[in-house]
Amino acid sequence: RESRDPYRIWISEVMLQQTRVRAVLPFYEKFLRLFPDIESLAAAEEQSLLACWSGLGYYSRARNLRKAAQAIAREWGGQFPRDYPAALQLPGVGDYTARAVLSIAYGIPLAVLDGNVARVLSRLYAVDKDFRSPGGKAELLQLAEALLSRRRPGDFNQAMMELGATICLPKQPQCPACPARASCLAYLRNQVEKYPPPRRQAKPTALRLIAAVILDGAGRCLLVRRPPSARWLGGFWELPMWNKHGSNRRSEKGIALGTRLGSFRHSITSNQLEVTVYEGRLERAAIPRRAQWTPLNRIDRLPITTITRKALSLRR
Ligand code: ADE
Repeated sequence: RESRDPYRIWISEVMLQQTRVRAVLPFYEKFLRLFPDIESLAAAEEQSLLACWSGLGYYSRARNLRKAAQAIAREWGGQFPRDYPAALQLPGVGDYTARAVLSIAYGIPLAVLDGNVARVLSRLYAVDKDFRSPGGKAELLQLAEALLSRRRPGDFNQAMMELGATICLPKQPQCPACPARASCLAYLRNQVEKYPPPRRQAKPTALRLIAAVILDGAGRCLLVRRPPSARWLGGFWELPMWNKHGSNRRSEKGIALGTRLGSFRHSITSNQLEVTVYEGRLERAAIPRRAQWTPLNRIDRLPITTITRKALSLRR
């Protein structure tokens, strides 16, 4: 908020799509130190870009940022385009991001609709529709556009998001502290908890994984690189890992398991993973395909998966 630099606003809005402000801050600062402008991001090396993003998740967003930076450098003279349809053409820039960047950086009157804003509007106007449904999204966006301040669209959008994030909470909304309660239909009808309507969700898939920490005599850890084309986390490094079938935690791919180091849960999209971590030992001389010995103190320089970071932190 201290900056009107479209580049900074764009990066922050993309990061904030996945995590809360407080969690994003260290990533944001590091990212801007390493890639302070469009040109440096366009020229970034994939490995250092992903290493910097590691922990934020949704890595296609980082890759798209770089692709979009290249397009902006090439086609827009290094300035984030002011034109809404043009912004939407950039890789990874969807409706939310285009509206957020153009309104906040350039004062263009476009209303944003994210989950927080949708909840505020759903209560203000007692709209009984889920904003993820096509009809619900269109109706709520129309209300947002109608309410938008033409003079200060960026501040308006941020105020709506902030209201949703701090006061108009999904559970236990802080109505007595809300500056909009006198015009909130849901509040006036004493039906705040009824809005927005619950959405129907796919049931999460539970998966159990085993991860092996294999060290050699020189303090190096065996890491395996995921195929670049993998659906998830392509090109990332991780511990040797496999599905646990029933109660079978026996060796896999020539790895013998020793001491159990611990376990943890990790949620990714609609998968709920339970990862159990063991010390491991190679049963053969050859190391697995795509594997590499990495000194423990250099692991941070590689893009490693969050699961692997959590697993390694279980070592005493
Ligand atoms: N969440 C995402 N972007 C935001 C912004 N600009 N202000 C408040 N909350 C946000």
